[in-house]
Amino acid sequence: MDFTPLVVGVTGSQRATSYTRRAVEHALDGAERAGADTDHVDLGAADLPLYDPDRDIADAGDAEALLERVRAADAVVVGSPNYHSSYSSTFRNFHDYCGFDEYEDTSVGLVVVAGGGTIASPLDHMRITMRGVHADVVPEQVGIRNASRYFEDGVLTDDDLAARLDEVADAVIDAAYRWELAER
Ligand SMILES: Cc1cc2nc3c(=O)[nH]c(=O)nc-3n(C[C@H](O)[C@H](O)[C@H](O)COP(=O)(O)O)c2cc1C
Repeated sequence: MDFTPLVVGVTGSQRATSYTRRAVEHALDGAERAGADTDHVDLGAADLPLYDPDRDIADAGDAEALLERVRAADAVVVGSPNYHSSYSSTFRNFHDYCGFDEYEDTSVGLVVVAGGGTIASPLDHMRITMRGVHADVVPEQVGIRNASRYFEDGVLTDDDLAARLDEVADAVIDAAYRWELAER
């Protein structure tokens, strides 16, 4: 099929040496190896005020440009740190700007990174909020517990986790092809 899917990563961490950012980058590298184009919306580098429905989007810093980049995606890999057994406010704040226009007919894979042992509840919370914008969330997902054990100098050192991030990339690409076929 004459179709090159665009996979966009969205990282919901502000931390300069974020493990989540590295995990999302790894998934994007896997997507490129699988033949996709990629883009990375790094919310830690964005000027994004707290979402306010009364504010004109043109006055909301980088919001309009970031939404356009997600809207262009055929597939999205969304990563968030675990904050208090849920996703981060950085992920959520951007998510509140998003809606059906960004995610309808778009496959989504989820990545959660935790300093401790809890990954199930943030993954579930992300899955529910992604359903709220009609994203097609694939079953494949990655939760990284005790994250500092698996990264050295910003590099993911665990082969099993690396393979699972690649599987998420493959799954959202497969789903993007199915959407493309369905829409032809
Ligand atoms: C406000 C806050 C709340 C956190 N809550 C949890 C938690 O409930 N469970 C957990 O395992 N780790 C928790 N952590 C640790 C983060 O998940 C961990 O530092 C993670 O690596 C952050 O992701 P990042 O490296 O992408 O920024 C918390 C960290 C912060 C700053």
